[in-house]
Amino acid sequence: MDTVISILRVIHVITAVLMAWPFYALVAVNQRMRLGPPLGDRVDTFLENTIKNRVLPCYIFQATALVTGLALILLRGMGLVSLVTIPVLGLKFLLLLVIAGLLSVVTFNLQPRIDALFTKRDAGGKILEDDAAQIRTLRGRRKQLSSLCMFCVLTSAMLGVQAWVAFPLWLTVVLIAAIAVFTWRAYTSVTPWGWA
Ligand code: HEM
Repeated sequence: MDTVISILRVIHVITAVLMAWPFYALVAVNQRMRLGPPLGDRVDTFLENTIKNRVLPCYIFQATALVTGLALILLRGMGLVSLVTIPVLGLKFLLLLVIAGLLSVVTFNLQPRIDALFTKRDAGGKILEDDAAQIRTLRGRRKQLSSLCMFCVLTSAMLGVQAWVAFPLWLTVVLIAAIAVFTWRAYTSVTPWGWA
């Protein structure tokens, strides 16, 4: 049983590493913003295709984190009731539901609207200014949700470290604040120095 738990822990942590995509997606979209016009050229096709093709892997990694996380609880002989009795685990569970929701909003609401706007062109093959403005607004909203997703993933990793032995509350609050600052940097810059 110890071997199974060890393997599951490794899979769980590697899954967490692979869930860093929102951070790198923010790097990519912030680089795209730096590039400036024109809107709708091959750079945008590349960016949109890359983002769209990460949807299925993201759902798979989320499912893997959920299944391995729950399995680790059960295999340690603790019932699902520990999602209530150990607040850190309950919070991790809720955060996973939140990121699944965020991904679904992007996939089923924002992305189809962005795609539809990119297909509309005038006679010269250019995107109308009105449509370009809508694309910018929708992309902005997608970027906000991506940042929120990144914040949730990093918070979930931080909570994972204290799954069985809780940190003092003040330390958890300080770490959440640090994660929020880092997420803000990723939202507003290309983080040229890694952490800043
Ligand atoms: C965004 C999704 C998640 C991420 C990024 C994440 C990340 C992590 C990380 C980094 C650890 C630390 C491992 C260690 O120190 O050994 C951990 C531990 C843990 N996580 Fe998650 N986790 C996620 C979702 C979940 C979910 C949904 C559950 C189930 C409710 C869960 C349950 C656990 C448990 C039980 C541990 C302790 C593992 C052990 O040592 O037995 N995690 N998690």
